[in-house]
Amino acid sequence: MCVRLASDVVKVCVTGAAGQIAYSLLYSIAKGDVFGPDQPLCLTLLDIAPMMGVLEGVVMELNDCAFPLLREIIPTADEKVAFSGVSAAFLVGAMPRREGMERKDLLAANVKIFKSQGQAIDQFANKDIKVLVVGNPANTNALICSFYAPSIPRENFSCMTRLDQNRAQAQIAARLGVRNDAVENVIIWGNHSSTQFPDVRHATVEISPGKRIPVYDAVKDDNYLKNEFVTTVQTRGAAVIKARKLSSAMSAAKAACDHMRDWWIGTQDNKWVSMGVVSPGVYGIEKGLMYSFPVRIQNKTWTIVEGLEINEFARKKMDATAVELKEEKDQAMDICKA
Ligand code: NAD
Ligand code: LMR
Repeated sequence: MCVRLASDVVKVCVTGAAGQIAYSLLYSIAKGDVFGPDQPLCLTLLDIAPMMGVLEGVVMELNDCAFPLLREIIPTADEKVAFSGVSAAFLVGAMPRREGMERKDLLAANVKIFKSQGQAIDQFANKDIKVLVVGNPANTNALICSFYAPSIPRENFSCMTRLDQNRAQAQIAARLGVRNDAVENVIIWGNHSSTQFPDVRHATVEISPGKRIPVYDAVKDDNYLKNEFVTTVQTRGAAVIKARKLSSAMSAAKAACDHMRDWWIGTQDNKWVSMGVVSPGVYGIEKGLMYSFPVRIQNKTWTIVEGLEINEFARKKMDATAVELKEEKDQAMDICKA
């Protein structure tokens, strides 16, 4: 299929397009859930050469969905083709972990993918491209990708901690017996790893129409919120792998859509969302680390929510995850330079 693209068509790249996350993600993007119900799209689908046969099947299925917004599909194993003229990229393609592994165990296998894709984005993508890194270890891969794309602002690279945010929100909602969207402003600090800090100290819950109270006052169990809740969210990815024998895919795709939609269209009212972004040195987090913060978004630009009170408990957790990110960064730089 090769038609001339109208100027209002947005070109979106998905990598790892023959994989399991992409299988759910492509459907939602093509349907209009991310870039809006009136936004025509061209999808470039990158995977490795041996997966081109499988990718062909995915393309057949996308065609068979007859999506009104989908104007062109370009399957490829060539990074130049995948990133040329692209305005938004979902970098999913990478090896997933198996049972018993930590996400950082994937560093050696995956980080070079993001070096190479960073270089291609630098050369061929639109300079205002928004890049969401999903492939693990997501924070460090995003950092490496931005490092090798020096002509693109570092603010245009982010990594996904929205799945952790959604998990945290769902845990609290279940505990209180309320709708998932009654819980707001949960924060994920730091790394998308088992050191992340899911923090509900500033979160609220709607307990009756128009009436919000702090989650801490609603749950009334300090010990649960500081221990079981935190551990459940930190280890949820591993629990899914243990049960499914495969890493999360439907929930990861949903979170990727939530992340990019909020970046593209903006956050609502006074709500915050968490995303891994390059630290400008706020909240005592070393400048330059790809760290998850609470952000608000307007005009496709994120701003970290500043001025939140950080108690001693939170400080320790926020620092521990920063230490891990610093170690990953040093290790990744060594691998990329070798
Ligand atoms: P998968 O194995 O089903 O699919 C990965 C795909 O990437 C495969 O088709 C593979 O061929 C492709 N690929 C490998 N190298 C590539 C390259 N250089 N360029 C393009 N494509 C390439 O895996 P999955 O379940 O879709 O997971 C993908 C990644 O997402 C994993 O690293 C996983 O750990 C991660 N993940 C992250 C989150 C998060 O919250 N950040 C959540 C779930 C999964
Ligand atoms: C997740 O959080 O489900 C993913 O990052 C997959 C994993 O390895 O945990």
